[in-house]
Amino acid sequence: MSILLTGGLGYIGSHTAVAMSKADYDIVIYDDLSNSRLSTRSSIEKLCGKKVDFVEGDVLDTAKLIKCMRDFGVVSVVHFAGLKAVEESVQSPLSYYDINVGGTISLLRAMEFLDINDLIFSSSATVYGAPEFLPITEDHPKKTLNPYGRTKSHIEDILSDLCESDPKWKIACLRYFNPVGAHVGGTIGENSKNSPNNLMPRIARVASGLSKHLFVFGNDYPTNDGTCERDYIHVEDVAEGHLASLNYLQDRSSTLEFFNLGSGQSCSVFKLISIFEKVTGKQVPHIMAPRRPGDAAICFADVSKSREILRWEAKKSIDEMCSSAWKFHCRNIAG
Ligand code: WQD
Repeated sequence: MSILLTGGLGYIGSHTAVAMSKADYDIVIYDDLSNSRLSTRSSIEKLCGKKVDFVEGDVLDTAKLIKCMRDFGVVSVVHFAGLKAVEESVQSPLSYYDINVGGTISLLRAMEFLDINDLIFSSSATVYGAPEFLPITEDHPKKTLNPYGRTKSHIEDILSDLCESDPKWKIACLRYFNPVGAHVGGTIGENSKNSPNNLMPRIARVASGLSKHLFVFGNDYPTNDGTCERDYIHVEDVAEGHLASLNYLQDRSSTLEFFNLGSGQSCSVFKLISIFEKVTGKQVPHIMAPRRPGDAAICFADVSKSREILRWEAKKSIDEMCSSAWKFHCRNIAG
């Protein structure tokens, strides 16, 4: 019996594949390689010490998904495959609705055809939009600010309607805050084919000299040091949250639940830069720039529900996030 990971060669997917494989699950990765590398498969296998099955395919190809899940005896699915760049979603909303929403419907059709009912969905804290209260609980209003976030919110609504229509479904939607860092071994990490928009990989590029300096988007926010604060969480902790969710679903007969995957702490841009410099011994030259549209001043999770129901909580420190991100960057990106 296997677990299917769509988009499993991507950043969160590859770390989840390692965590689940080490927990003795058999893993099948289904990925179209549009924003990932086939070499990540062998990195995963080396870290787990065992084979990981792989099928190259598009989530919109329902027939191929059915064949893959039938061939490998899939019993549960973790759905990572999708587009995830906020700014890109504003320029190309149709691609985001097609691949993220259409791809999820295609996957659900395939699961329904094979009577596979266990699903973990890779959602995002972006569904909350600008925080109305902090820390953010799972029942915070969903007021998405961009097409990417709206695709995640629409998919969550589709999953809710699906569960309402048939109690056989068992679904956990995991809302990631800011996953950063890399596997401690340094061989898998954040290395998408598109140039990074997120803070941590950009800090690493500046520290290694690949970029001249970091632009800090605003220091006039109502925070301690004027820069935005985010809930950074180590990607290995995020992967363990998926493993905990899989175990949770296996103990249930029917469910739809939403869980925040965050650390429950916030950290400012300036603080992250200073911790990165302390941990790596490298300087991160930065220049102040105007605020980035859509940025909230502060955003961090209430993680009590995940702690109580999933019996999971983030364990790794921001120091470990920075050191692991730097180790991966030096071995795989800085050359
Ligand atoms: C963090 C902070 C920036 C880059 C995004 C997505 C979200 C999720 C996580 C997918 C902000 C500042 C950044 C830079 C900067 N992804 N920053 N200079 O925006 O909180 O969340 O990634 O699910 O959906 O929205 O993360 O890393 O882009 O930014 O000053 O060059 O760093 O303004 O305050 P964000 P981020």
